[in-house]
Amino acid sequence: MDGLNAVLCSRNRHKARELERLLPGWTLEPLDREDYPPETGATYYENAAIKARFGRDHTTGWVLAEDSGLEVEALDGRPGVLSARYAPEGAPAVAKLLGELEGLENRRARYVSELVLLTPEGRELRGTGTLEGRIAHAALGSEGFGYDPVFAPDGEELTVAELGNGWKVENSHRARAAKALLAALSRA
Ligand code: IMP
Repeated sequence: MDGLNAVLCSRNRHKARELERLLPGWTLEPLDREDYPPETGATYYENAAIKARFGRDHTTGWVLAEDSGLEVEALDGRPGVLSARYAPEGAPAVAKLLGELEGLENRRARYVSELVLLTPEGRELRGTGTLEGRIAHAALGSEGFGYDPVFAPDGEELTVAELGNGWKVENSHRARAAKALLAALSRA
């Protein structure tokens, strides 16, 4: 759909930038407020819906929300829905993750992204995307954000931070979620 204007329920500027590239023609207006409700959901969908409902209180138009995370097999799926709260984003979170995995052979992990779009009429559309891979032994690369310097997707030798933002637009969990959302929107 062309020319869709939506409020984006996120304060994460990296995500906002990625979503803008993934939804060409859409105008995303970040809802930059201090009073977002706590993300108490047990699933990415529940947390995305909490953010979307908060956005609904602030606009009568389209509302887009996203929740995402990293699930590490050897950590029983942690940090999962708590990924943003695992440690301060960037180097501290990466260092904590590498520390927890030190000496472990199983490096399997996956990224998950869940998008929730509310229409002005109150309908809800969803899009989910995952990216399978493994946690590298050291941080490499400078693009992307969060755990990207240590996440190496299946079929690739490099980390997402080395593969870069162009790679992410085509292949990331968020790219897959955006494609699924656009497909749901075209059927609606
Ligand atoms: P939330 O969706 O705002 O709760 O935050 C999700 C967290 O998961 C981010 O703060 C990152 O730590 C992590 N995460 C989600 N998507 C990505 C990604 O594309 N790259 C790296 N880290 C990500």
